[in-house]
Amino acid sequence: MRIQRGAPGAKVLAFGGYQPAGVVTNDDLAKTIDTSDEWIQSRVGIKERRIAGPEETDVDIAVQAGGKALAASGLSAGDIDLVVVATCTLEAQIPNAAARVAHRLGIGAPGAFDVNAACAGFCYALAAAGDAVRAGSATNVLVVGTEKLSQWVDWTDRATCVIFADGAGAAVVGPAETPGIGPVVWGSSGDRSDAIIVRDRDSFLQQEGQTVFRWATTALHPVAKEACERAGVHPSELAAFVPHQANLRIIEAIARRLGAEQAVIAKDIVLAGNTSAASIPLALSRMIERGEVRSGDLALLLGFGAGLTYAGQVVEIP
Ligand code: UT7
Repeated sequence: MRIQRGAPGAKVLAFGGYQPAGVVTNDDLAKTIDTSDEWIQSRVGIKERRIAGPEETDVDIAVQAGGKALAASGLSAGDIDLVVVATCTLEAQIPNAAARVAHRLGIGAPGAFDVNAACAGFCYALAAAGDAVRAGSATNVLVVGTEKLSQWVDWTDRATCVIFADGAGAAVVGPAETPGIGPVVWGSSGDRSDAIIVRDRDSFLQQEGQTVFRWATTALHPVAKEACERAGVHPSELAAFVPHQANLRIIEAIARRLGAEQAVIAKDIVLAGNTSAASIPLALSRMIERGEVRSGDLALLLGFGAGLTYAGQVVEIP
């Protein structure tokens, strides 16, 4: 058997993000459930979120984000030979999203698989994509995080419906002479798998908010620090910290403990809500659009959520 030759490194060539058009404000929610703009902003940090229309699927929004990343990468559909979609909210499990997203974007016969690591999914998928490029299993990979959480949320349950939202974010990963995607630090805590759960196909998402909050604010900053260490990057060298957009208080707590005062902290949750696997690439694509980070800058990504799962890595901004 021969050893397969891959690229010396892998890097992100471009990011892209997409949000559905429908804006739902906190005041809109307060018309139908017992909540308030004050409670939501002070406890979670969200001002408004986007919700997809009844006809708009996870795959539709993934195609929008994936198309933007592909266009920004300068590659054409024919250059992509692997598509990985991170999602946990497909309306139906079969067929997978990746093959459909690839087909809709005109990517012919790529490897195509989905990843379910919930809100950590994008970081898992990005790690798999980078490894595939370095191992020679793929040349250029489209990675998409896409979620339509609105179809798994009980809109009468104020504990969840004010938090979750719809959206997609994507990255194109290609070969590089030097690494542009740092080693991933990933893990899980299956003993707490009940903390965020959809029990069966007829159930809605339920969350033990306080359990997850405590875990996120105490267990994840060491993961963030280790991802920096493995990449050979000191937190003081980071231009941006882009954690999963679960709760503004969690984001700020991890950022404080990371000790990267100079870094821009992603706070996309304010206008996007919690979009699970989409939140990191969506937030980062908007930071790039706004000029908050520049090409060559280093950003630390950190995903965490149901499972419980977590993953983080340092990436170079394309
Ligand atoms: O993305 C996956 C990872 N997920 C996370 O990281 C989520 C982590 N957890 C959290 O972000 C927070 O725990 C939540 C935002 C989910 C909840 O915030 P909290 O500060 O932990 O509130 P709580 O669940 O302890 O509830 C406090 C009170 C309760 O009322 P009582 O029992 O004190 O009278 C709730 O019934 O707030 C009440 N409450 C609300 N009140 C107004 C819960 N939801 C609402 C609401 N509006 N929407």
